[in-house]
Order: sequence, then C-alpha cells, then structure tokens
Amino acid sequence: MNQVFYQNSLLKFIRSKKGKALDLASGNETFVKLLLKNNWYVDSVDLKKNNNFNKKNYTFNCIDLEKIKLSKIRKKLALRKYELVILFRFLHRPLLRMIPLLMKKNGLFFCETYMIQNGKGKLNTKKNMLREKELFNLKNCNLNLLKFYQGKDSQKRNIIQTAIFKRV
Ligand SMILES: C[S@@+](CC[C@H](N)C(=O)[O-])C[C@H]1O[C@@H](n2cnc3c(N)ncnc32)[C@H](O)[C@@H]1O
Repeated sequence: MNQVFYQNSLLKFIRSKKGKALDLASGNETFVKLLLKNNWYVDSVDLKKNNNFNKKNYTFNCIDLEKIKLSKIRKKLALRKYELVILFRFLHRPLLRMIPLLMKKNGLFFCETYMIQNGKGKLNTKKNMLREKELFNLKNCNLNLLKFYQGKDSQKRNIIQTAIFKRV
C-alpha cells in the first residue's frame, strides 16, 4: 500500500469519523479504497480512471486539476463539502487556495508531496515540488496547521513535505 508520513493520524481520523472525503489526484485509489472500507462517501478526482470498480458511496470525477477553476470544480462535485480532503504526490499551487473552500468546518486536509532541497528533488520539474517549509508558511486564514514535517519519507527514499491542516 502507498504510505504517507502521517499514516497513523490519517487512519485514526478515518476510523473514528464518517462523512465525505475528497481524494485529489487519486491515482490507483489506494486511499479511496481505504475510505470506502471505512464507510466514507468518496469523491475521487484524477485525469484518468485507474480502477474499474463501481461502488455505492463513490464517484470518480475526471477533472484536469491544472485547468479547472473553483466555480467549475464546485459544480462538478455537486457543491459537496468535505470532512476530509487528501492531496498526495501532486502539486498545483492554486489548489491550496481552493481546497479550504471545499471543506466543512473542522474538516481535515492532509497534504504530502515531494520537495526541493538544495536544488535537488525526486521530480524533474521543479515547479511540481514544494519549496522549503512551503506548507508551514502557507497563509490561509481558513486553515490551521496541526502537524508539519519535512525530510525523508517513511520509506527513507525521497525528501518530502507533509502537513495536516484543520479547516476553521
Ligand atoms: C504520483 S500519482 C499520486 C497518486 C496518489 N495521490 C498517491 O499518492 O498514491 C499522481 C496522480 O496525479 C494525476 N494527475 C496528474 N496531472 C493531473 C491533472 N492535471 N489533473 C488531475 N490529476 C492529475 C495522475 O494521473 C496521477 O494519478
């Protein structure tokens, strides 16, 4: 299973709460499956569908996250608001401003992706990686930072940055 640094916090939240979750750039939907198993309603967003499953409480939304505007994404997602938003291993900075507006009060936002340190990082394209302490310095009056870490990922392969935010 794909791992994230704050996996235990994520599991604890998923197991203790129920509601609607949004997985942005959901890839092979590892986290979608985990959420469905724990009786969440899940909106999965990606450029392409990587699974064939057709489950109740689940909607796959084919959306180009680099092109869509807030009003359009809200409409596509039927104006739903989420108790949980996850964004793992994908970065498009305008999303960081949109996400709080898709969340319910007290909802959590888990974000984790690669970062660039001393000019180096996992990805070839620098703009797709976070800058030093970028999530720590994220200024958004709708989000409170609960946890932050930058350094090696849990498998000690890549330099990542990861954070948990609460929607206020
Ligand atoms: C590295 S995978 C991460 C998958 C998953 N979040 C995870 O951590 O396991 C990146 C995902 O971003 C999706 N993606 C890339 N560009 C996108 C875009 N413009 N809009 C939506 N999804 C995109 C890819 O299709 C891919 O599934």
